[in-house]
Amino acid sequence: MGQAFSALMQNSMGLKLRPISIRELIYLDICPCDIYGISQGLFTRLLSQKSSLSTEVLRDLIRAGHAQLFVYHQDRQLIIKEIQTSLVQVTRSLSIGDPFEKCKKQMNLLTINMEYLYLDTINDDLLSLQAQSVKNLFLFLINNLEIHEKLFYDYINQKHHYIFAQPMISSLLLCGIMKSAKLFPVREMEALFITSFFKDIGMSAIPTENYDKKDLSDSDKILLSNHAQHSVEILDGRLSFSPSSLNVIAHHHEFSIINKEIHFKSSKSSQKIKSKSGVLFDTDESFEGSYMIGTETVMVCTLDIIAAMITPRPWRAAEKLFDALDLIRIQIGDDFPQEFKSIVSYFKKFKPK
Ligand SMILES: [Fe+2]
Repeated sequence: MGQAFSALMQNSMGLKLRPISIRELIYLDICPCDIYGISQGLFTRLLSQKSSLSTEVLRDLIRAGHAQLFVYHQDRQLIIKEIQTSLVQVTRSLSIGDPFEKCKKQMNLLTINMEYLYLDTINDDLLSLQAQSVKNLFLFLINNLEIHEKLFYDYINQKHHYIFAQPMISSLLLCGIMKSAKLFPVREMEALFITSFFKDIGMSAIPTENYDKKDLSDSDKILLSNHAQHSVEILDGRLSFSPSSLNVIAHHHEFSIINKEIHFKSSKSSQKIKSKSGVLFDTDESFEGSYMIGTETVMVCTLDIIAAMITPRPWRAAEKLFDALDLIRIQIGDDFPQEFKSIVSYFKKFKPK
């Protein structure tokens, strides 16, 4: 009888529990709800609601082999709320305390919140919180150029899923180069930083686990190649994304190798789509479209490529900075020599290993 009841309980828990990442608990002081794990094949409560959380507590969980954590479905929102409260607090107090520690915390919370946003892209409050936090991050970063390199290495070591980390890494590098090379006025740099950060929100259309596949299928590649258009559709008419920002997003893979492959393979005809804000783009992401590429798009594109190449993926190791810069030289060296020079000058001082 007892065993049967226990089996029923376990079955019921399996249906009601949802996975969470241990990363979501790092910046919380108190457990907002009961946390469960798996012990000897059975769901077991590991931490009780209102119990203290600390680095040591989380380390003990990992040491005991509890990498997989769960909460009841109805409690999921309690964790999200706590993370977002922490994000608001750190965003409001970025300039107080140690600049590196504050910035590191904000970047990590922003990345965790990015996952929540990708699961609920039509939520205006969520988008607004993320955008306001990113804007504050930018204003902090341009005034603290000396901590960018340390932030870069620390952030890489956090090992966020690359889908959520890639926009942060490419935007961090973009910010450093724009500021060092004095490429644009501050307002333009801010708009471009925010544009860069949200450019991949269209990737939310594909389940995160699909991105972990070693070899993407042709259909996955097509889905991936459409994410720029999907990002525009999600952001069009929301917050303060201007037509020029949406244009940059729509074309942020103009130099992408994957899109070149798709272009040469695809035989479907190109069709111009006009968004609510008047942005024109091709439905097949034609590589040889009529869009006139400016410095803004070139910078967002190239830093996106460099960030992707110098960081690891589940199916490959990180590539060398030299190789990334050599590819960029081939892609933009002739047509955009000044932009290429600015990028190389920055990386001479800032050297990803
Ligand atoms: Fe992208």
